[in-house]
Amino acid sequence: MKAIEIRNKYLNFFKNHNHKIIPSAPLIPENDPSVLFTTAGMQPLVPYLLGEKHPEGKRLADFQKCLRTVDIDEVGDNRHLTYFEMLGNWSLGDYFKDESIHMSFEFLTKELQIPVEKLFVTCFAGDEDCAKDEVSANIWKEVGITEDHIYYYGKEDNWWIAGEEGPCGPDTEIFYDTGKPACSADCQPSCDCGKYVEIWNNVFMEFFKEKDGTYRKLEQKNVDTGLGLERMAMLLQGKETPFDTEIFEPIMKKLQELQKIDNIQSRRIVAEHLRSSMMIIADGGRPSNIDRGYVLRRLIRRMIRHLNKLQIDLVNLEELIKLNIDNLKEMYPELEKNKETIISVIIEEKEKFVKTLAHGEKEFEKEMKKMHQEGKKEIDGKVVFKLYDTYGFPPEVTKELASENGMTIDQKGFDELFKKHQEKSRLGSEQKFKGGLADQNEKTISYHTATHLLHQALREVLGDHVKQCGSNITEERLRFDFTHPQKMTKEEIQKVEDLVNEQIKKDLKVTCEEMSYEDAKKTGAIGLFTDKYGDRVKVYTIGDFSKEICGGPHVTHTGDMGTFKIKKEESSSSGVRRIKAVLIK
Ligand code: ALA
Repeated sequence: MKAIEIRNKYLNFFKNHNHKIIPSAPLIPENDPSVLFTTAGMQPLVPYLLGEKHPEGKRLADFQKCLRTVDIDEVGDNRHLTYFEMLGNWSLGDYFKDESIHMSFEFLTKELQIPVEKLFVTCFAGDEDCAKDEVSANIWKEVGITEDHIYYYGKEDNWWIAGEEGPCGPDTEIFYDTGKPACSADCQPSCDCGKYVEIWNNVFMEFFKEKDGTYRKLEQKNVDTGLGLERMAMLLQGKETPFDTEIFEPIMKKLQELQKIDNIQSRRIVAEHLRSSMMIIADGGRPSNIDRGYVLRRLIRRMIRHLNKLQIDLVNLEELIKLNIDNLKEMYPELEKNKETIISVIIEEKEKFVKTLAHGEKEFEKEMKKMHQEGKKEIDGKVVFKLYDTYGFPPEVTKELASENGMTIDQKGFDELFKKHQEKSRLGSEQKFKGGLADQNEKTISYHTATHLLHQALREVLGDHVKQCGSNITEERLRFDFTHPQKMTKEEIQKVEDLVNEQIKKDLKVTCEEMSYEDAKKTGAIGLFTDKYGDRVKVYTIGDFSKEICGGPHVTHTGDMGTFKIKKEESSSSGVRRIKAVLIK
């Protein structure tokens, strides 16, 4: 079964079980203080898991575009991916363990026709925060999973939370037995040997983990599930790796045709990073030296390095991109829509990187000279790391060049520095998540409402051509990107500020209504008007000043928000301006 068929079957199944199908949120989160990329289907739904009402109801399902970068250096083996698609279904205070497990079981065994003996499940073993999940285990037995296919594990395996704080709970995970021989007498679902592959995670989100590490019960009991599409396609097709499925096969084949040196890991890295880069670019990401732009840069550059490793001439890059778009456009029409941009962004980054590599070679020569003078035979780990980190020089290339010069490299020293660097970036990405959408407090909520006021004020002062292109909120400030061809004048900035402050002073009431997307447009509500909305949406109205489609939450009255002040107005990219503003209390 092809991946797209699995996706369609999944969405249909849950539609028939009274779920509303909602569109995938963009890979780059909207209105999010600090998350780099959407990493799970639940992430755009955090406000609703915490009790905010979702306009489409309490039973939702979707496919969500996700990107996880923690394992970027593992890509190239037979299973790690950065970009992946997560199928998910949610109960927002509606059904709980019983219905969730019954539906998962029915989908796997009836729709996908997986024989029941292939399935193993794990449940939470229980600890001081939460009891052993015998309820789930009993439901599994009821549907037909035998006792010897049920395992219990602690928090490290059977508890799910995004980051450090936020909604969370015990989960039950479903594994597929590939039929490979057990690696040892003790081989079980938690084992990493590849015999058991996790296919679906059902999280019973009834807790909230606070900053101080304590757990409190949420007002509603939620279900959050996630099923990895690429993995499922691989298993159902009896393939060894996701790279052997139709998602990657055409590009893998083409790389094999073009390569002068055979290296399967490099082919996988190129195929994987190309798909991820294209998905990020299609959702608006651009290479840069910070945050998500840096992730994109790393993905593209790593891909180029491995094309070099395969000795594939970089003139082939455009053809490879086109081939990949053709192969994936049925699943992701946004790739075809943004084809020209995807090609130009990747090619431009390639050109920059080719120059960087040339610099790296010069730097290498310099180091060589120094070492000759000092009579050294081994390149210091620090130098190898600098060449890697600053010049994008992979250590294996440094090693090769070194040996051509009769030298060796301090691999151990490099490995240590590399490990430290990895830990730091891992920590970084976790911390990025920490502030996530779960972090909704009075300040961020006020900034959210201020963003609506600013959006409308800009339209009144500058004109209706002003459209939101991006928004980012932290506890300290808001950032708002919008279309406008030139720099704002001092007077315009003052007018916008005054207009926003007037609305705050008027202590306008903020109200919310649910309606169909079509009706929302008819009311004149502004919004992004892309395909990211579902059929039913929420419209937030601020007095008689602003009407905007938005998920919320917002303040109830504008009066207590503080004084609005624009700190900066600058260019963000061509035709797009960026405002940073604060609320002073
Ligand atoms: N949020 C859960 C996961 O990502 C379903 O595994």
